[in-house]
Amino acid sequence: MRRTIIAGNWKMYKTSGEARRLVEDLKPLVGASEVEIVVCPPFTALAAAANAASGSNISVGAQDIFWEDEGPYTGEVSGPMLKDLGCRFCIIGHSERRQYFGETDANVRKKVRAAFRSGLIPIVCVGETLAEREEGKTLEVCRRQVEEGLEGLTSEEASKLVVAYEPVWAIGTGRTATPRDAQEVIGFIRELISKMYGEDAARQCRIQYGGSVKPENIAPFMEQPDIDGALVGGASLDPVSFAAIVNTAAEVKRRQKI
Ligand code: PGA
Repeated sequence: MRRTIIAGNWKMYKTSGEARRLVEDLKPLVGASEVEIVVCPPFTALAAAANAASGSNISVGAQDIFWEDEGPYTGEVSGPMLKDLGCRFCIIGHSERRQYFGETDANVRKKVRAAFRSGLIPIVCVGETLAEREEGKTLEVCRRQVEEGLEGLTSEEASKLVVAYEPVWAIGTGRTATPRDAQEVIGFIRELISKMYGEDAARQCRIQYGGSVKPENIAPFMEQPDIDGALVGGASLDPVSFAAIVNTAAEVKRRQKI
């Protein structure tokens, strides 16, 4: 049984003081949820968020990582540094990094390996642009991003992976994929992982949907068999709405078990 994972991508929002308060506000709202809860503040607020989250069931993740562990790479932050701050997760290959910072599938591959080397769990983002969707290339694009970005892992590493399917046109736009379309792509990604790393790894790795997830629309996504959670941007900046997403996801999964 895969544990549901809801992660908040705070993007370039929140100072360290604001991050500490957000985590403090979130803790009582999510209680002892069976959902795995992750918050991903900017690098500068990671320590504050990790301190505030310590002893709770909220984990902290970074939004990026560099592929070397140390060296002359001005401005970069490495896996051992993130681990030292108390991070457990790391978002890799977010579409904003691909779009604005030239992140390629080859970069993603090196960063995924670096994350595992440091004991961090990567949350690897894939997804098509609107133009690619309109040209009918959604599966082709996701296939390339998965095959090239996730190459060279062990099956054990693959089983720990988190993949986030985020259609680029759904990010920050208020438009979401339909839950059935998201299920189709996410089921396809799971099949690809099965071909690359075997059925066990594919059965264990978790795949999220991302793109304009809100408390009002999370439930039908969580009802899909292959969707194991969500990567949430805008709605994760408010503790009440992020907690409502976590609690609704937990409720849907609880209902499915009965
Ligand atoms: P959004 O962002 O929820 O604001 O659409 C999702 C993301 O960028 O991960």
